[in-house]
Amino acid sequence: MKIGIDRINFFTSNQYVDMVELAQARDVDPNKYLIGIGQSKMAVIPATQDVVTLGANAADPLIDDENRDKIDFVIFATESGIDNSKSAGAYISGLLGLSHVRAIEVKQACYGATAAIQLAKGHVALNPDSQVLVIGADIARYGLHTSGEPTQGGGAVAMLITKNPGILELDEESGFITEDTMDFWRPLNHSEALVDGKTSQNVYLDFFNKTWTEYKGKTKLTLSDFKAMLFHLPYTKLGTKGLKEVLLEANEDEKVELTREFEAAKRYNNQVGNLYTGSLYLSFISLLENSKDLEIGDRVGLYSYGSGAVGEFFSGKLASEFKDRLPQINLESRVQVSVETYEEMYQSQLKNDGADIELDHKNDHSKFVLTGSKNMQRQYLIQ
Ligand code: CAA
Repeated sequence: MKIGIDRINFFTSNQYVDMVELAQARDVDPNKYLIGIGQSKMAVIPATQDVVTLGANAADPLIDDENRDKIDFVIFATESGIDNSKSAGAYISGLLGLSHVRAIEVKQACYGATAAIQLAKGHVALNPDSQVLVIGADIARYGLHTSGEPTQGGGAVAMLITKNPGILELDEESGFITEDTMDFWRPLNHSEALVDGKTSQNVYLDFFNKTWTEYKGKTKLTLSDFKAMLFHLPYTKLGTKGLKEVLLEANEDEKVELTREFEAAKRYNNQVGNLYTGSLYLSFISLLENSKDLEIGDRVGLYSYGSGAVGEFFSGKLASEFKDRLPQINLESRVQVSVETYEEMYQSQLKNDGADIELDHKNDHSKFVLTGSKNMQRQYLIQ
């Protein structure tokens, strides 16, 4: 039985900061951000969006009267959780009107959504008529004036995992690895991540080589079996480094093709920044929408990495509906904010101090909005 991604959607804030302006404000050569890191714009998430609302805004368009009763499992992947006990899956199920479901949250840094897909695949294999809603939603925060600052961003990707999927049929095998590593973590008393940036780059690339090697050993496939290679993109330059590793095995034609497809796959990530759990899947959407060469049956490789650290290389073949089921992403219609406004928005995120607060949400026209906190409970609005 074929199992995989039947539908996919993406949501982020409609505000961004320009990386040239951010570089100038930080007294850095803009080319460091544009070329060295590979980012030209960065989504700025308003206080009125948290991972639950970002996820709900991404998932809502995937749910209709036809599939509502078939979805029996909601797996919410995030490393920006809003509650140490109640899952973001439970919050979002309420907002989406899904009640006959199992709802959970999974966490393993940026790898979480891939873990969710693997869980979903097993669930559908045992329950072929089930549909599983997988969501990867995060707000990447490192802190103002830190070296991680230009690699922030945020947003959500939602996917329906089903049998006979319309977009991507997952292959059986994958290569995977876990090693207890302190390259990136967020202690319970921190709202920003702590990171050893160089170590995280090294482990990312080391795990790519290890999981790709394991995958090839299991499947006997080679690079020539792939139309495109996709990478978790915390910033696009890191994926470029991963691609460089794999191109060592490529002939000249393959180098040209894989580089061209990677250009298409990094375009949206370059404009949005890091989504943590959703980044690999935003890159997949970017490939589908920006490549001109894809055909049904083409195989794409996906490298997922979550600090801490877990890596997995897996693959899938483009399915019959992949051209007709693309979300309509329009990053051009977003509004640019100044560095000063970005800093104010950064500071205005809901604090974990338990105080009652009402957020000014009149400028947030998203369907699902966070309006504040009352009696230590987040207040959500569907508009
Ligand atoms: N023109 C062109 N390039 C320039 C330049 C200029 N004027 N100035 C600098 N550069 C280049 C540097 O040569 C360097 O390139 P290489 O990586 O190819 O050597 C690049 O710009 C970055 O420069 P630095 O290494 O000096 O930058 P930095 O010390 O400020 O740190 C960073 C960069 C490590 C990515 C930092 O932003 C960071 O820690 N980010 C967060 C961690 C992260 O995203 N890690 C990724 C793996 S972890 C993961 O994937 C999970 C997740 O999502 C968090």
